[in-house]
Amino acid sequence: MSTYEEQYKLSISDPDSFWREKSKLIEWFEQPKSILSKDEEGLNRWFQGGKLNTSYLALDFHIHAGRGNQLALIYDSPVTDNRKSYTYSELKEEVELFAGVLKSRGIQKGDTVIIYMPMIPEAVMAMLACARLGAIHSVVFGGFAPHELAIRIDDAKPKLIVTASYGIEIEKLIHYKPLLDEAIHQSTHKPSEVLVVRRPNVSEYMHTGRDFYLDEVNEGIEPATYVPVDSWDPLYILYTSGTTGKPKGVVRDNGGHAVALKYSMNAVYGAHAGDIFWAASDVGWVVGHSYIVYGPLLHGCTTILYEGKPVRTPDAGAFFRMISDYNINFLFTAPTALRAIKKEDPNGNEIKKYDISSLKTLFLAGERTDPATYYWAEEKLGVPVVDHWWQTETGWAITANPMGLHDRKPKAGSTNFPVPGFDLKILDEEGREVPRGSEGFITLKLPLPPGCLPTLWKDTPNFQKSYLETYPGYYLTGDGGYIDQDGYLFVMGRIDDVINVAGHRLSTGEMEEIISHHEHVAETAVIGIADEIKGQVPVGFVVIKDGDPIDPHKLESEIAHVIREEIGAIASFKSTMVVKRLPKTRSGKILRKTLRKIADGEPYHIPSTIDDPTILEEIIEVMKSHRVGKAFQGS
Ligand code: COA
Ligand code: AMP
Repeated sequence: MSTYEEQYKLSISDPDSFWREKSKLIEWFEQPKSILSKDEEGLNRWFQGGKLNTSYLALDFHIHAGRGNQLALIYDSPVTDNRKSYTYSELKEEVELFAGVLKSRGIQKGDTVIIYMPMIPEAVMAMLACARLGAIHSVVFGGFAPHELAIRIDDAKPKLIVTASYGIEIEKLIHYKPLLDEAIHQSTHKPSEVLVVRRPNVSEYMHTGRDFYLDEVNEGIEPATYVPVDSWDPLYILYTSGTTGKPKGVVRDNGGHAVALKYSMNAVYGAHAGDIFWAASDVGWVVGHSYIVYGPLLHGCTTILYEGKPVRTPDAGAFFRMISDYNINFLFTAPTALRAIKKEDPNGNEIKKYDISSLKTLFLAGERTDPATYYWAEEKLGVPVVDHWWQTETGWAITANPMGLHDRKPKAGSTNFPVPGFDLKILDEEGREVPRGSEGFITLKLPLPPGCLPTLWKDTPNFQKSYLETYPGYYLTGDGGYIDQDGYLFVMGRIDDVINVAGHRLSTGEMEEIISHHEHVAETAVIGIADEIKGQVPVGFVVIKDGDPIDPHKLESEIAHVIREEIGAIASFKSTMVVKRLPKTRSGKILRKTLRKIADGEPYHIPSTIDDPTILEEIIEVMKSHRVGKAFQGS
């Protein structure tokens, strides 16, 4: 039996023994009293009573083990033409000082801190500084507009917010401070203080008594040491899009997270201490949390923070320049980044300019990898390509080709096999397991392994309703798919109103809520349609209020503007089509899935419950005339 099979079987048949063994991978200040138990709300919890500190494990532990002079963090910023690196000892010093500043501003164990930052080292330091004090960080992706940030401020109720003067999108400066000011203006909860990391060549309006520059308040600060926390204490909250306008506050605890990520670094990625690990994501997303910050540092790797893009900073060779400059061993990115590179450099001429022989494996996640991109990457990079599937909720891979446990041949289009700890089941509407090869709802039989969300921030009823109630005893992932005869999982896409735009998870339900506030809109439906580079982009259908005279082009640009203002430019919302009616079932459910399939040129089925089939014909004509959707782009 392979290591994979042995580990997988044990993890499912006896999770207690399996994770007891894995808990020894990290240093505890006090050993857990139990491995899997229930909390007072009846939720599964791991490593009850264990005491640890995640920042200690990510920094001090390695220094004690003699890795103090090894590089912990490399920052490379083509947009500012700047590079910096920190050894474990240097990073610890920076984090201790940052924690000292937070402590001097009154932050202590259990307080929440929002971090709204571009990809600069201070973002990582702020996260680790919170972890050091036992404060709970909530990083908000810098591409979100003030409205989105305000929602998160009201939910997380931070005592303090850390931000920076600006982020840089290729050449464009995104001024974070005024965006944050606007968010605080919109939110009901007001933080006591805002700490600003000053970037060169700008000055911002600072609210007296509330806003402080980090470089002004850190003088003479006492470095703060780590505070032991309980395994169940939250390390962070990360908001992710659900089906409504209110994002879900995914909670990550300290103990389960540290054990799971430490285990994953070798089991899933095949990485060892000292390896150079680059997750080309953003600290605002779960991939950034798990594999820019915590995973590599818990494992004693060198991690890379890249303030740039796959293309245009300056060209399609950017990723390969990075691999060559830093001898990167593992690259983790989103398929959309590869599609952007492939579009500009289909023959891989840029790749040939660099020595990328240090690279061992390419990992992909965030959205489906189309086979064409998979084969292109495999051929041009000459390394195994591993597509692995996971979500903000799980925090680490549910399925992968676990490189540290075996190397079964991956299949293009598949996200491979369940990682030890994840009991994957495909169920039908009635909750029965479907035979191999049949599509259904992808679920995970409880308990979820360590590292996955124990609940939603201060909202266990919503956690239960969203994930656990549909099929009692199972966690509903929100994805549909099938397992083939050889045991490989194929993820076919979301079964709800969540879409993935350039690897960014967004809610079409939220977009509909925003559009419906437009004075001329009577009704709307938003769907995600296939896009060559971004995987999916949203498009809207609107029905205008009776008798309203409106220029459809003006309406389209107003809607695009409002989505940009309320959610952010990352939504990439451009097209809105005016239609007379929306296709619905007799019970009033809009046929969004049918619309998406029509736009994408996929076979579709018209439900027998459709209210009026002629509406679909009208909409097809509108899509044709707008040339919206893969099916109509050539028409
Ligand atoms: N802050 C502010 N604005 C941001 C932003 C950020 N962090 N990230 C993106 N935006 C803006 C962009 O400037 C752009 O604005 P514009 O419409 O004014 O030009 C808009 O959001 C869309 O940006 P993006 O999705 O990056 O599209 P693009 O066409 O500029 O670039 C890619 C396409 C594929 C190169 C880019 O999407 C990419 O690098 N994707 C990889 C994403 C990723 O790694 N995700 C991993 C999640 S695991
Ligand atoms: P996020 O929470 O932002 O990481 O998004 C999670 C969602 O992205 C999943 O529920 C899937 O719909 C999608 N996703 C992530 N990884 C993959 C993958 N490897 N293949 C297909 N879809 C993926």
